[in-house]
Amino acid sequence: MKAYSIVFADPDKNMHDGHRRLIRALRPEWSVAFALTGREAMNKINSLRPHAVVAELEMELENGGDLFKTVQKVYPEIIRIVLSGEPDGSSEAVLRATQSAHRFLAKPFKGEQLIEQIEKAADLRRFLRNPELVEVVGGIPYLPSLPGLYHELMAAVESPLISLQQIGDIIARDVSMTTRILHLVNSAFFGLPRQVTNPQTAVVLLGINVIKALVCYVKLFFAAPDNIIPGLSIDRLWAHSSMAAQVAKQIAADLKASPQAQEEAFLAGMLHDIGKLLLLEHPRYYHRVLNSISDNDEKSFSDAEYQVFSTSHAEAGAYLLGLWGLPDTVVEAVACHHRPDRLQFVNSPVLIATHLANVLLCKADKEPVSINQVIYNLPEVKRMFETWQKKAAQLLQESRK
Ligand SMILES: [Fe+2]
Ligand SMILES: [Fe+2]
Repeated sequence: MKAYSIVFADPDKNMHDGHRRLIRALRPEWSVAFALTGREAMNKINSLRPHAVVAELEMELENGGDLFKTVQKVYPEIIRIVLSGEPDGSSEAVLRATQSAHRFLAKPFKGEQLIEQIEKAADLRRFLRNPELVEVVGGIPYLPSLPGLYHELMAAVESPLISLQQIGDIIARDVSMTTRILHLVNSAFFGLPRQVTNPQTAVVLLGINVIKALVCYVKLFFAAPDNIIPGLSIDRLWAHSSMAAQVAKQIAADLKASPQAQEEAFLAGMLHDIGKLLLLEHPRYYHRVLNSISDNDEKSFSDAEYQVFSTSHAEAGAYLLGLWGLPDTVVEAVACHHRPDRLQFVNSPVLIATHLANVLLCKADKEPVSINQVIYNLPEVKRMFETWQKKAAQLLQESRK
């Protein structure tokens, strides 16, 4: 078992004793340090560079700065877990924490829960080994939305006539809003018995006041600026994602996957290229990758990424989704959508559906892409392949009208 180092920050000394006993009993090999104030925590973080910081909500530094926001800026690679004794999971302080915390736990919690949160988040490094990208992804405060959808949502929350269903429909069409909403609703603050994978359900669970607070006060969403990277169209990326969601769901249904797996396939299809969006924060990454592809090259974008960085947008996206607590099946499908052979056994219908949906849409769009032969040779895939190919081509044609 891996030994992790953790800094706990909590103004209540009794909590320190509790955490110390807990770690000693369950993970004696971990090293832990404690701080009563934000400044003390920051000093310990500076000297220890821990794997994770676990802190009470709104721990402040003496200059009024927020501990988590500072860690996010200075050490984005450190996992940030917020603990809250707030009785109301939807208070503004909690909602604001979604910008800087990766994971959330509501007090009181079971010791095993905290250990699991830390281990699961730290274990995600197996997907993304490039330290530079771990920093970029770990420090992401915002995700850009499609400008049209962003303005639609702004108008919707102002309108007295709009229903939660309609708001859910807008959010479900946007990759970034979907991810953010699922991050929040799946946090332990809301204490839901099972993971939510559907943004419309998430919106209903959060309720109109939380959605309004997220849009108007917390300002969780924002519109993507134009032409961030030459040659990369946000509109195309969104259209591709929403088509991949539909095709992946159809494939999962035809593979007789459970209703839950079909929903997860839809979500994985929608989010599979979210890494491309994250890496916009790192323009040098795009420039190096795009420069390595010459005009008459048959090399795909992801092949170029693997060549230059030994990793890709797939792993970067999965790393963020995992940090934000999205379901493991979705995280795995996103991580391996270009290279399912990274796994020893490819048997998840969610991964099979996501890989195929992406391949079929790229092929229909005449983009170079390679199909995994193990998946292609599955009898149930061979039987339906042409049907799915037609569906992908038809969706692409409709999207161009
Ligand atoms: Fe991709
Ligand atoms: Fe894709």
